[in-house]
Amino acid sequence: MKVTRELFDQVMAPNYNPANMIPVRGKGSRIWDQNEVEYVDFAGGIAVNSLGHCHPEMVAALNEQSQKLWHLSNVFTNEPALRLAKKLTDVTFAEHVYFANSGAEANEAALKLARRWALDHYGEQKNQIISFKQGFHGRTFFTVTVGGQPAYSDGFGPKPGAIDHATYNDLASLQALMSDNTCAVMMEPLQGEGGIISPTPEFVQGVRELCNKHNALLIFDEVQSGVGRTGQLYAYMGLGVTPDILSTAKALGGGFPIGAMLTTKAIAASLKVGTHGSTYGGNPLACAVAERVLDIVNTDEVLNGVKRKEQMFRDGLNAINDKYHVFNEIRGKGLLLGAALNEKYQGRARDFLVASVEEQLMCLVAGANVVRFAPSLIIPDEDIKEGLARFERAVARVVNG
Ligand SMILES: Cc1ncc(COP(=O)(O)O)c(C=O)c1O
Repeated sequence: MKVTRELFDQVMAPNYNPANMIPVRGKGSRIWDQNEVEYVDFAGGIAVNSLGHCHPEMVAALNEQSQKLWHLSNVFTNEPALRLAKKLTDVTFAEHVYFANSGAEANEAALKLARRWALDHYGEQKNQIISFKQGFHGRTFFTVTVGGQPAYSDGFGPKPGAIDHATYNDLASLQALMSDNTCAVMMEPLQGEGGIISPTPEFVQGVRELCNKHNALLIFDEVQSGVGRTGQLYAYMGLGVTPDILSTAKALGGGFPIGAMLTTKAIAASLKVGTHGSTYGGNPLACAVAERVLDIVNTDEVLNGVKRKEQMFRDGLNAINDKYHVFNEIRGKGLLLGAALNEKYQGRARDFLVASVEEQLMCLVAGANVVRFAPSLIIPDEDIKEGLARFERAVARVVNG
């Protein structure tokens, strides 16, 4: 069968608009398409391919598990899931783990748990969930409604209720919405899809204090910021604030679908038998791969490497900007970076992405005004240099029309 981009339009639901070329294989931070054209990968599958493509140790973990056991459902537990849960609880604030298959599902579990916990301890009036404008938490109807971009949740009928949105980095806006009826505040400790926005330390501290004051749970959505992305295993570790619930996915599986919700023993107690579940959650293949990813990422070598590589990106992007004057700011943390377009290029982030593909580079956007980079955490320095050279040519294409 001839597989072409045209086939996509014929047989796939039209909710995506992928690039014209079709990638067929990858190694590290390089990808090849059907015509053997090679690309540098600064996108990392949207902050997923934490160890690049086909990392030999991940391939080995997957191969090994694939010879043993693929799936059981949660009628039985399994060794990889238990090992991964033990490791996650050993290295974070959490004492209990719920496994899901995606970021949205991990968040769905977090939100349902928060509501049930509030009901158990305070009664049904305590059901308000507050999150932040521009925030992104997934595409299930609950998570997309909690997300702060109404365009994504409008047009699907009545929305889940008791959800309000405050302004990120504006503590007063949160304070104005909060009361003892607030059951949880959900936030990204570094907004990704919303434009790569870091919280100020005072803001995060203030959110924690307001949650304490009103007996509300603080949920950190670390689906994009977690698993080494910021140079810490989880971003909260660099902020001096500990959440009550944390969701993680994307980079955790390094390309194999998995999500997890982490929390304390006291809060997890509300997730009694039968309250929530998933057929695939804790799948042995996914957990075996994620266990290996966690072992590799949670080392000084990888985490310090992220910080060093961040500097290479910043230096390179600033040098490009000195020549072409397209960005206001290079922002973000670790290897989740955003180049924010200046006044002259407002609304044109996608043009930079399209020009990058033409120059054999994969990058991302975060909204209409930010070019986003979320490469492998172990992208080789040579690939950063080569990718930046290609990005400079892409910028020149856009600037020169
Ligand atoms: C912060 C955040 N939360 C949740 C999600 C949803 O994850 P998934 O697409 O795996 O459901 C994303 C995806 O971009 C995300 O960035």
